[in-house]
Amino acid sequence: MMFSKILGTGSYLPPQVLTNKDLEQIMDTSDEWIQQRTGIKERHWVDENLFIGTSDLALEAAKKALATAGVEKDQLDMIILATLSPDHEFPGTACFLQAKLDTPGIPALDIRQQCTGFIYGLSVADQFIKTGTYKTILLVGAELHSKGLDKTTNGRDVAVLFGDGAGAIVITAADRINNNEQSHILSTHLHADGRYAKELWVQYPGLAEPGPRVTQKKIKSGGFFPRMNGRMVFTHAVKRIPEALMEAADKNGVKISDIDLFVLHQANARINEMIVKHMNIPTQKVFNTIEMLGNTTAATIPIGLDHAVKANKLRSGMLVAIAAFGSGFTWGSALIRW
Ligand code: ACO
Repeated sequence: MMFSKILGTGSYLPPQVLTNKDLEQIMDTSDEWIQQRTGIKERHWVDENLFIGTSDLALEAAKKALATAGVEKDQLDMIILATLSPDHEFPGTACFLQAKLDTPGIPALDIRQQCTGFIYGLSVADQFIKTGTYKTILLVGAELHSKGLDKTTNGRDVAVLFGDGAGAIVITAADRINNNEQSHILSTHLHADGRYAKELWVQYPGLAEPGPRVTQKKIKSGGFFPRMNGRMVFTHAVKRIPEALMEAADKNGVKISDIDLFVLHQANARINEMIVKHMNIPTQKVFNTIEMLGNTTAATIPIGLDHAVKANKLRSGMLVAIAAFGSGFTWGSALIRW
């Protein structure tokens, strides 16, 4: 059997930065409220007047990951893109990315698992590689939230949380390993509970209700903005992420204390503080980006991995755990020998 090795990482953030003070100018909120409840100070938002979509952010991250990996685009066998903010309803954003990357013919797959999307994508890539189906895969997590948020006081509970950005990795097949120290994806663990699908969702455009995708009634309802039961998300996240981390550790016969670095989803600094405390993880083993980036959902973990590599916090040979929880509800984890 083959195993999957991460060859390179890359990330991209749109240049415009919005601080909490900037948000105070457009809605009734405060820097103090946002920092206290979420740990966020600023986030990157695209210029909403531009023709720019998630696939554009994905493209920039993908180019950087390919360059770091030393892989030419023509060597790719597959593209996987995780996002909850697609360029269009259909076709998938991976197709738009593929066209921009100019790699016609290879499969391009969208993953719609929100904050857990990157981990689902990693698992899919890992299975294709292990079975020998594909050799080299580009996996991207990309999000453009800002154009889709209700940036009035009505939407402040959600709007202040999210940022735009993209992260990417290039994964390739390597021969069977003889020892566990060699860099590879050790295991991935995926979960979902669709009973909570409507606790964090965007209702429209959609075809589940009478009439076309978009109607005056649907527009008036404001259901095209994301809606969230914040407390419910919080309670489930602090339970599910530790479970997923334990699952990854148990599967590989390691203890949580054996893990060198944790790159966790960044929904809210308070969620992660609770998890880290509960699991006795030293804070220096946790790589956070939320303060300056907010929550970039599916892009969060690949951006975190890339920034951790650049900051020399994630080095070859280290054991790194990633875990996420998000809309669906979906959650999951992976353990990687870097
Ligand atoms: N600025 C100022 N006041 C606000 C804001 C804001 N941006 N948003 C809400 N408020 C007000 C509310 O209107 C409410 O006012 P009221 O008491 O007069 O009614 C008050 O603040 C408290 O609101 P709550 O929603 O009860 O605040 P809570 O303490 O639950 O914190 C939060 C809200 C931060 C969203 C919290 O529920 C949370 O962290 N949830 C986790 C969900 C999360 O992080 N989701 C991210 C996306 S999902 C994911 O990636 C997993």
